[in-house]
Amino acid sequence: MPAIPFNRPLLVGNEHAYIDEALASGKLSGNGKFARTCAEWLERRVGSPRALITPSCTAALEMCAILADLDPGDEVIVPDFAFVSTANAFVLRGAVPVFVDIDPQTLNIDPDAIEGAITERTRAIVVIHYGGVACDMDSVQAIARRRELIVVEDAAHSIEASYRDRPLGSIGHLSTFSFHETKNVQCGEGGALLINDPRLVSRAEVIQDKGTDRSRFFRGEVDKYTWQDLGSSYLLSEVASAFLWAQLECVKAITLERRAIWDRYFAAFEAAEAQGLLRRPVVPAGCHHSGHLFYLLLPTAGLRDEMLHALADRGVHAVFHYLPLHDSPGGQRFGRAAGYMPVTEDVSGRLLRLPLWSGMGDVRVEAVVDAVHSALDATVGRLSHPRVF
Ligand SMILES: Cc1ncc(COP(=O)(O)O)c(C=O)c1O
Repeated sequence: MPAIPFNRPLLVGNEHAYIDEALASGKLSGNGKFARTCAEWLERRVGSPRALITPSCTAALEMCAILADLDPGDEVIVPDFAFVSTANAFVLRGAVPVFVDIDPQTLNIDPDAIEGAITERTRAIVVIHYGGVACDMDSVQAIARRRELIVVEDAAHSIEASYRDRPLGSIGHLSTFSFHETKNVQCGEGGALLINDPRLVSRAEVIQDKGTDRSRFFRGEVDKYTWQDLGSSYLLSEVASAFLWAQLECVKAITLERRAIWDRYFAAFEAAEAQGLLRRPVVPAGCHHSGHLFYLLLPTAGLRDEMLHALADRGVHAVFHYLPLHDSPGGQRFGRAAGYMPVTEDVSGRLLRLPLWSGMGDVRVEAVVDAVHSALDATVGRLSHPRVF
């Protein structure tokens, strides 16, 4: 069998037809018919007053940073186990990301660590629902309310996921989604900003369209448009939006398929976990995840690296994930760690993600399962006292 890639972007079939329709419409810039259709779908599905389709989740996070009205030196609390954009978007506005450690079970931001990191300069808390498994949003929201902080949900992994029956992306003041080719629903590069606080909607529209009130002009609310505020070009073209709509129409089937692969991996490695050879993801009660990614935690960083090589030798492309932000050159230059980050440092060295994509099919999934078992025998399994996690 040819090597199994970590990811293969899905094509659902209608992308070409919708792109042809967009081309025929003669309107190819942002916020056209397909972009609005995608936005309205997200508003309904997530339950948000307003969604804006953006060129990436990174762009949507940059819009959040502008909307948060940060002054230079203001602080934003960010998990240390995170994607670079989750912090960098705020650094672009002169803010200081303050890194906090994660919960060892879910790998999401640790609410207890948030409290200790708050200073008089703190303005916002940004959370990531890692792998589409919800953060402890009740605790995060309680802290934010008490301290009057803005909550941004980086829901890049979290389409169709929920927390206590609330869709992820609907809980914070603002939330962001990614439609990058590695995500469940994709258009190559793409994203969305969901504005759950209605007070921020009109400013978000201005920021998205180069700092102008062009959207009001198009709705006939003003007779000309002009520069109003900070902004940039945070619009996704109609061609990419047409592609995205084809994918969003299939999100239920995509999610079911991904969850089925996730469930198969979860069941397949139960015995290995019981033997202390590895640990599987933890999904707390009340969380319905998106099936975005499946990871294993190996006993040590060295064994994780050996497993990556052993899997590659068996034709399976497994990968690591985030490196601790506080330890990166950018993190050290622009951010600050709130204390020590033992969980992030530990987990980031031991985590390995398995291939998981729509269209993998049972044969490839079983080949990954077999390769993991055989690679485990050749690596962790040779230890006389495997670690119990
Ligand atoms: C949690 C998180 N946020 C943001 C991003 C950036 O997404 P995009 O590539 O759409 O900018 C990623 C990318 O994988 C991510 O994992």
